[in-house]
Amino acid sequence: MKKPFFTYTFLVAFIIAALLSCKEKEVTTSEAKSISNEIVNLHVDLKDSGIKIQPTMYGVFFEDINFAADGGLYAEMIKNRSFEFTNPLMGWSQPNSNKHSFNNESGIASAVKYAGNPSNKNYIRVKINDDKGYVLINEGFRGMGIHKDASYNFYLSASKKSGNVKKINIQFIDKEGTVLGETNIVPTSTDWENYTAQLTALKTEAKAQIKITFEGTGEIDLDMISLFPVDTWKGRKNGLRKDIVQLLDDMDPGFLRFPGGCIVEGRTLARRYQWKKTVGPIEDREILVNRWNTEFKHKLTPDYFQSFGLGFFEYFQLSEDLGAEPLPILSCGIACQFNTGELVPMEELDPYVQDALDLIEFANGSINTPWGKVRSEMGHPEKFNLKYIGVGNEQWGPAYIERYKVFEKAIKAKYPEIIIVSGSGPFPDGDYFEYGMEELKKLNAEIIDEHYYRSPEWFRENAARYDSYDRNGPKIFAGEYAAHPKEIEDGPKENNWEAALSEAAFMTGLERNAEVVHLTSYAPLMAHIDAFQWAPDMIWFNNLESYGTANYQVQKMYATNKGTDLLSITKEGKPLTGQGDLYATAAKDLEKEEVIIKLVNTSSNSQNVTVNISGKKVKSKGIITILTSDNLVDGNSFESPNKISPNESDFILEGEKTVVSLKPNSFTILKFKIK
Ligand code: AHR
Repeated sequence: MKKPFFTYTFLVAFIIAALLSCKEKEVTTSEAKSISNEIVNLHVDLKDSGIKIQPTMYGVFFEDINFAADGGLYAEMIKNRSFEFTNPLMGWSQPNSNKHSFNNESGIASAVKYAGNPSNKNYIRVKINDDKGYVLINEGFRGMGIHKDASYNFYLSASKKSGNVKKINIQFIDKEGTVLGETNIVPTSTDWENYTAQLTALKTEAKAQIKITFEGTGEIDLDMISLFPVDTWKGRKNGLRKDIVQLLDDMDPGFLRFPGGCIVEGRTLARRYQWKKTVGPIEDREILVNRWNTEFKHKLTPDYFQSFGLGFFEYFQLSEDLGAEPLPILSCGIACQFNTGELVPMEELDPYVQDALDLIEFANGSINTPWGKVRSEMGHPEKFNLKYIGVGNEQWGPAYIERYKVFEKAIKAKYPEIIIVSGSGPFPDGDYFEYGMEELKKLNAEIIDEHYYRSPEWFRENAARYDSYDRNGPKIFAGEYAAHPKEIEDGPKENNWEAALSEAAFMTGLERNAEVVHLTSYAPLMAHIDAFQWAPDMIWFNNLESYGTANYQVQKMYATNKGTDLLSITKEGKPLTGQGDLYATAAKDLEKEEVIIKLVNTSSNSQNVTVNISGKKVKSKGIITILTSDNLVDGNSFESPNKISPNESDFILEGEKTVVSLKPNSFTILKFKIK
């Protein structure tokens, strides 16, 4: 009896293995590098098309999702630094304190409320009973990343209450408790006072913690316990993580959209993003629970809050640093429609509209205006030169249109030069989309934001999406998009080469329609490997390092090779939108005097093309940049951050018959100087 069962099991296993190996073959291209014999003739016309590629064409979309702000871009290393989380001691532990035996414990910290301070509500009172080693530990954002020999600025506010707490010792420790750097503070005052000290890390450690011990006995009040690397982006005190901003800067983005995303809307109106609460002194910025904290049951992050240390001033400053147009998106009085969909009654919409008007004043107003003064007092008397403002994130239905109209009227009445971005909802088609587009067109909306998270096939099949859009209608902001591979483990593996290549193919259609499409951005922008809610994402980081995914490399290649004017590139008089698995777009850069040809081959075979350039002469020596990988499931990782990265070499154009052999599954850019 046993033998047939075993044989049958073996047979089934064999069939499954055979099927799996077939499946593998579908995605493995290294074995399938046959070169198709057909040569595809492409014609690039250097004559002016009269179509400009907007400087904003390729930008970035920032949202505080996946620990992108606190625990990510914002370099603060202490979680819950001002004890404002719902549980005021979340992120803090007192390993030697036993709250159930008040007489025996060597010390205890408990939260206390400030009398009448609405933005900074809590502090802690630490009671040290003896010298037996009371300890307070902060765990950081899934640990703290410290780099050997790097220095870190430590701050705290303290007020001595009773007895004499003589010294506060601050140490980096690893999980075994080994000390990896230390410093101390001597508190002197019974009034609130700020103290600073510096630690240097003795070792690189991704999951360090901060241990605080006290000498002396008595009671001391503490608040705003903060720790930042000295080495931040542009060396700004308490600034942004340098490695992450560098990745953004390397992309040369045309705009920075902030602060989201659904985070703009909030799950309820009370929890919407209110920019006014994110500017001014950091300790007065009222903390808010992050709407992504418990959004996905399988990805709970109940310790996810918004400190707003990265607030609207910092977003404007970052836009300026990156040379990107700031593009703030504001609540239009509708909470996230995937959650409560709470609506502010029309007669109560004024404060929301006023927020938009005041924001424009904050960015562009003279220092004598109330909000221009706030900007100036924060260290930026110069205007931020805001040109765009978004009304609502991803709203749909008549309630949105009704509210949008009120915003539009008020903004245009006071600031006719500001360009308003409206939204077409969460999907690229269907009832919400059709309705929103139709209504916004009737209102002569200037720019409409579209969102699509779809399969890689969808992206490959939709490269002609914008070919039929009305050239005289609203301009398009492809504000959130990403190819989502199906049935792939949740996380960085979703940023595989197939998804990135499919986006590259689709993006030929964005660029080819530059007359209509004025802004585009991949979403979401970044994710902490130990605390993400949503994947795929363009950049992954841990507490020490960050890397750009294959999708990032595609975005960067487009953004740093966008050109200024669109050119026509055709095969037999037609644009290439996927025929024979080929996609193409071309542009010239009037400043650099070069022609830029982008070619995407989504076939698992090499394909030969000839590129005939007419209209003007180009220099024969050019540059070819190729992005490819042997396997469609490949991706970059912390171990191999540059596995999929562009390869650049010289390319010689030998007249009209030069054959460019496009590698299987590749994205290629050819660049030649115009004579
Ligand atoms: O990018 C993640 C989310 O996707 C955004 O917050 C939202 O606008 C969209 O639904």
